[in-house]
Amino acid sequence: MRLKISGPKGIEGWNPSLGTKMIKLVSPNFSDLFEPNIEIGKFPDGNTHIRIPDIKACAGKEVLLFHRLYPDQNTAFFELLLILEALKEIKAQVTLVAPYLPYARHDKALLEGEITSAQVTCNLIARAGCDKLITFDCHFFDEEREMQFGDLLIQNLSMGNELIAYARQIFGSEKFEIVGLDKGAAYLVKDHGNQYLKKSRKAYEGDKVGYRHIEEMTVDFDVAGRNVLLIDDMISTGSTMIKGIEKIKEASASQIVVAAVHGLFLADSKEQISNLVEAVFSTDTVLSSLASVSINNKLNQLA
Ligand code: R5P
Repeated sequence: MRLKISGPKGIEGWNPSLGTKMIKLVSPNFSDLFEPNIEIGKFPDGNTHIRIPDIKACAGKEVLLFHRLYPDQNTAFFELLLILEALKEIKAQVTLVAPYLPYARHDKALLEGEITSAQVTCNLIARAGCDKLITFDCHFFDEEREMQFGDLLIQNLSMGNELIAYARQIFGSEKFEIVGLDKGAAYLVKDHGNQYLKKSRKAYEGDKVGYRHIEEMTVDFDVAGRNVLLIDDMISTGSTMIKGIEKIKEASASQIVVAAVHGLFLADSKEQISNLVEAVFSTDTVLSSLASVSINNKLNQLA
């Protein structure tokens, strides 16, 4: 069973290096790690209903809010806005812990008039009353650090070393190469040989969605006869990871293990990838049956 970091009754307690005692609020979608003290439901017409029974205790205080923004990101995001606005009303200073930030991949516009939803999402979170977001391996970061993005102050934490440590348990005494899936994953492997696949994309083809498909991936280092941990910040449809696995196999790697921080595993990608490699796992920033590495210790390190 996982260690819980909640205090006995839940509302007062944990303080992530911020100097003062914070009030802790936990959404039901964080119940795998903490005891929830926010109630979220729906009215018969589908409208969201939220109750924070202890809201009076938050007035004028520092609040640490745990709320996942995936799956069902649009609903989870609206729930967040309702909670933040209510806390702003009573002058609480809010630090939000949302381990996976949806829309983060859309931080650049390809098409004229396209809304860069990463920026807008962060602005909305800040303007609704969030003073700081703590998140993990956010797409537009390439290291652990704090940064202002639009209106929002973000503290980005990385689970790279934790994924590598878990892979060591899988490989046991056998040696393995640590390989980033692409340039975006290079920061995850920079202290471990700095090897990553080079990826090129096709020209934009005029789909309604601003997305450029992958043209080619190349392995310009030697993995022949060696075990490989292939690592990325996220697996969504799985198509990038599957292409990377194929390339690593063509380069004659021995055993392959696959890891990602955020395992969305859309459609049948979980099965497809599992069938190609020795093992596949992710962290619990997004919950799934493959979420083997917990963010809990990392959150505790902040305390
Ligand atoms: C790309 O820059 C990301 O790091 C991931 O490689 C990508 O977003 C994964 O998407 P999918 O699983 O749909 O290929």
